[in-house]
Amino acid sequence: MPYITVVLNRKGGVGKSLIAVNLAAVYAEILDGEAAEAEGVAPSVAVVSIDPQATSVEHAEKVRQAGRPVPFRVVNASHTTDQLRRLRRAKADIIIVDTPGFMPLTSEDETDESLDPLGDGTTGDALRAILDVADDVIVPLEAEGSAFTPTRVTIERVLVPRQIPYGVVINNWDPRDGTADRDRTINLVKRRGWDRYNATVRHYKQHTRGITNGRLCTQYESNHASTKAKQDFVSLALEHQLRRQKYTEVR
Ligand SMILES: Nc1ncnc2c1ncn2[C@@H]1O[C@H](COP(=O)(O)OP(=O)(O)OP(=O)(O)O)[C@@H](O)[C@H]1O
Ligand SMILES: [Mg+2]
Repeated sequence: MPYITVVLNRKGGVGKSLIAVNLAAVYAEILDGEAAEAEGVAPSVAVVSIDPQATSVEHAEKVRQAGRPVPFRVVNASHTTDQLRRLRRAKADIIIVDTPGFMPLTSEDETDESLDPLGDGTTGDALRAILDVADDVIVPLEAEGSAFTPTRVTIERVLVPRQIPYGVVINNWDPRDGTADRDRTINLVKRRGWDRYNATVRHYKQHTRGITNGRLCTQYESNHASTKAKQDFVSLALEHQLRRQKYTEVR
């Protein structure tokens, strides 16, 4: 049975698609190595996109167009909630699900507990269906503050009531900006009592460019910055697996 990890934050542009694709690339490298590139070998890893914008599907297409292999299966499932409900039967070890940012609430609606923050409509249905089968959730959060309220809704109104284990991952932090923003964000997360990954995904141009020039973090050119950029996803994968062990023991 596959382990299903959903990358979720109602705020757009926090790095959900980037994390989904590059975490999958690292897992594929670890689990399948060169075999992932061979014909006829079923990949251990899948990326499922329920985002109508399909950024992760496009990223994978760009990689193929650049003549490089995509070492995981890519499934565009933005219109098929039935397919999502059957995901547990899929042939894969790990499934990473990329989701869209979802419906903004007005500030009054934020506090109205009777409203489902996932909203109605196709996106809401797809999100509900995927959260029903999710083993855990990664919540990307940028260190600059504006994503804090949407993240609170994501965690406290969507994940905690469903008792889905989750961890906040600080993403897109540029060490050249100093540690103040990151430390402030870590403190906010601590004060709310949210679960947080120690692994941080730093800002690297390689990540932003990877989408346009068709590279996964396992395929960046070999130089110091690229190695560090990839390393963040390796650390994230390792911490994710340690959490998986812990979550599975609890169950
Ligand atoms: N760590 C990072 N380093 C460099 N660029 C980053 C990083 N994280 C995100 N970005 C860039 O920020 C932009 C938004 O990222 P991404 O598309 O992954 O966000 P998203 O949460 O999936 O957005 P949406 O809600 O619209 O689907 C992209 O151009 C991406 O390359
Ligand atoms: Mg996206």
